[in-house]
Amino acid sequence: TKFDLVILNGVVVTASDIGKFDIGIKGHTLTPSFSAEEIAGAEIVDAEGGMVMPGGIDGHVHLCQDLKTGPLGLGGECADNFETGSRSAVCGGTTTIITFATQTRADEDRSLLKVVEAYSARAEATGSYIDYGFHVIIVRDDEDVLETELPVLVEQWGITSCKLFMTYETMRLQDYQLLDVMLAALKHSITTMIHAENGEMIQWLTEKLESKGMMAPYYHALSRPQSVEGEAANRTIVLAELIESPILFVHVGSSASAAVIRAAQTRGYPVFAETCPQYLNLTWEDLKRFHSPTCFENSKMICSPPPGPDSSDQDSLYLGLHNGTFTIFSSDHCPFKYDDPHGKMVGILEHEPSMRGPSREDISFPELAHNKVGSFRMIPNGIPGVETRLPLLFTRGISTGRITPQKFVELTSTNPAKLYGLYPRKGAILPGSDADIVIWHPEGTLPPFTLENKHLHHNVDYTPYEGMKFNNWPRYTILRGKVMWANGVLLGKPYDGEYLKRGPNQLGKGVAHFKKDPRRVAAWVRE
Ligand code: URP
Ligand code: ZN
Ligand code: ZN
Ligand code: ZN
Repeated sequence: TKFDLVILNGVVVTASDIGKFDIGIKGHTLTPSFSAEEIAGAEIVDAEGGMVMPGGIDGHVHLCQDLKTGPLGLGGECADNFETGSRSAVCGGTTTIITFATQTRADEDRSLLKVVEAYSARAEATGSYIDYGFHVIIVRDDEDVLETELPVLVEQWGITSCKLFMTYETMRLQDYQLLDVMLAALKHSITTMIHAENGEMIQWLTEKLESKGMMAPYYHALSRPQSVEGEAANRTIVLAELIESPILFVHVGSSASAAVIRAAQTRGYPVFAETCPQYLNLTWEDLKRFHSPTCFENSKMICSPPPGPDSSDQDSLYLGLHNGTFTIFSSDHCPFKYDDPHGKMVGILEHEPSMRGPSREDISFPELAHNKVGSFRMIPNGIPGVETRLPLLFTRGISTGRITPQKFVELTSTNPAKLYGLYPRKGAILPGSDADIVIWHPEGTLPPFTLENKHLHHNVDYTPYEGMKFNNWPRYTILRGKVMWANGVLLGKPYDGEYLKRGPNQLGKGVAHFKKDPRRVAAWVRE
């Protein structure tokens, strides 16, 4: 037979088009639109009028980061490994994730190559349900390492993006160091991703809050007013522009930062930006959702940057998705269990040693947590969301008319593929593309339902979206021609996913447009 699998009766959506096409899959790759005689003998998936899209690509997922390589330098351990994290992803329509291999300031972690090798071993230890690639987090500016190792990362590993931090004491780079690493990355066609928050403002505000006893999770947001993000975004653009490097802002959480980004884009500066579900669906109010503003349980909602003050901020971010300010929409899935000494409870354990039981391992915390405050400073930052990313944006974006289905595909699949050098193998429905597909329930056939954490497939004991109404969910997820998730049943296996070597950013450098300084540093510094 010509095809192994065919998808019939779907409304195919790409980043540019929407229409009724059939899709044929042979082996790992697909062909859009074919004639009836070619389907003989093939397995059939009937989309019954549901939308058929390229599989979701989540360019921002934290897995297997522990105390030492914590995303935060705060302690805490990711609750999800490659098996559980990718399982959760595939059940929510995602077929590719990019996760973070993290350098630390410890001398044994100086080598980025060693860090990547160790991290890769973690992925291989459990296997991934879906395809995966790595970013590297760089926390020091050793010129010898950058010079010798960046090219190897690109050539041997296909790692073409690095993340830099402006906050977190154990991870942040000074402006001098940011310039060093950004320039080295630029020379090797590596995309620089930036966590833009002003670390010193946060440190100062945190000390002030603590001195007044304002340490409950709720105050996390007070330690990070929007100017913290706005200032850092502005400074980043100034630094990037000095050497004419494109820059990618990850997890943009505020309208302040979005406005700075938009302004730079308007004058032609090549700025890419990512926002995430938490900023479109949560607000500061959610930091007092549980019991009372001082209850430790609100630590479930702590992430950095924090969600904005109210729904008007959400509206600005939705507008940014619609109007192109944001290039991609990722989860920033950073899974910490709540009731766990390696999860959010680190915030109590580290702060209140007297409350530790006989050992960290065998205490149960809910009582403790309700009665004691801990300190937001010590609470690991991050919330889970790899599985809810697409259905949330479908429900609150497509169904409300705030974004078109094509824009949805652009933000969740096609642009991440282009930005991270995976297109057109990924993020496309083109002849020869990987047969990675998500198929939604036909409109109106899935009664709106209320999400509970028990529906999800991550290894986290809560979801920030508990109780939220959803009106659609991926009905099928297909990875390289294999049906992985169908009508609520997980069919895939942990080693179905493969490591992806990536190429450079395909969205262009775009440095031709903005007005250059006549004494251009870029004219001589790159040699
Ligand atoms: O709070 C967050 N965003 N945690 C994840 C780590 C990071 O900075 O992306
Ligand atoms: Zn970050
Ligand atoms: Zn993150
Ligand atoms: Zn409570």
